[in-house]
Amino acid sequence: VFEPHNVLVTGGCGFMGSNFVRYVAREHPNVHVTVLDKLTYAGNPANIAGLPPERVELVVGDVCDAELLADLVPGHDTVVHFAAETHNDNSIANPAPFLHTNVDGTFCLLEAVRRCGARYHHVSTDEVFGDLALDDPSRFTEDYPYRPSSPYSSSKAASDLLVRAWTRTYGLRATISNCSNNYGPYQHVEKFIPRQITNIIDDVRPKLYGTGRNVRDWVNVEDHSSAVWAILTRGQVGETYLIGADGERSNIDVLRMIVEAMGRDPDDFDHVPDRPGHDRRYAIDSSKLRRELGWRPAHADFAEGLRQAIDWYVANEPWWRPSKQAAEARYGRQGR
Ligand code: NAD
Ligand code: DAU
Repeated sequence: VFEPHNVLVTGGCGFMGSNFVRYVAREHPNVHVTVLDKLTYAGNPANIAGLPPERVELVVGDVCDAELLADLVPGHDTVVHFAAETHNDNSIANPAPFLHTNVDGTFCLLEAVRRCGARYHHVSTDEVFGDLALDDPSRFTEDYPYRPSSPYSSSKAASDLLVRAWTRTYGLRATISNCSNNYGPYQHVEKFIPRQITNIIDDVRPKLYGTGRNVRDWVNVEDHSSAVWAILTRGQVGETYLIGADGERSNIDVLRMIVEAMGRDPDDFDHVPDRPGHDRRYAIDSSKLRRELGWRPAHADFAEGLRQAIDWYVANEPWWRPSKQAAEARYGRQGR
């Protein structure tokens, strides 16, 4: 069992990174966390506000800044890398920042980690495997071939391969996790579930891409945090673990659940033009994580988790309101 004391969390002001920082601050009060975040449009210091300052510190900076990393990384025994450009639609409109942050940024971080020997965990996505057909009963496993479809997912696939090469060649003490779609508090309003909830609050009809038959495998972000902690502390160095909670749902089903839970007619939404290259289905087989590390999701009731997410967005309009207009303007330019 590995005991982290001084953890550097990149991207800790984003959705999943901030939920992880909150989880560590709550569950492991002896651990000091440094957040390194560039505060892009997706990063918000409010996401980690209110945590004890002697245990959680924010450094504003770029994972592509090698000089900063050479200074900052050596003070830490552990690095958990969440920072990335994460939204597929943005990557289709402009791939450049995805290559920069996700590929160059991971490279810079790996070089800094290599020099100081910290334990490294790489947060990645099931999208590296591409998609499954709707009528294909199989699910992704750790040895499934990489076949990414979008500029975003191909940049994440590239970053995973760098981690594997640095592990084999330089003996980096690294693990990788690939997770399916997360949902929960502090998720940016550009993402599917928050976009539809906040549209309904604004009396705008929700927007479903194409037929809406595409399937995503939903995981509560709290369960993602506990899984990353389990892998970091009890995972085997050099190994990859898939994180999932058996949460497969079609987009149209999820949208109807949101619309109904918010008191609207279940068909009160619009179909909009499909995303180019839109992956059909993601499905995670997380049995390795469950079998080897004994991890279980504590929030596997999706309907209940969705109701809590709706309540959170209703109660936290001042948090999301400042980003809503710009996110919808980006969609407007893409006709979605
Ligand atoms: P997010 O978009 O909400 O947040 C990303 C964070 O990274 C922001 O705080 C941003 O400011 C920061 N950042 C971006 N570029 C940076 C740079 N160059 N230097 C430093 N910080 C930078 O992301 P998220 O949805 O929380 O995803 C976090 C990680 O999890 C990503 O690596 C993503 O690929 C992966 N992931 C996400 C999901 C999901 O459902 N959202 C699922 C599986 C894996
Ligand atoms: O699978 C993990 C991935 O999940 C992460 O790696 C990504 O960072 C994360 O953004 C997410 O990718 P998706 O593309 O699946 O998520 P998004 O929230 O953009 O969309 C979810 C599904 O909903 C997808 O099939 C597209 C559809 N969609 C999305 C939006 C924003 C709509 O139908 N309407 C919408 O308005």
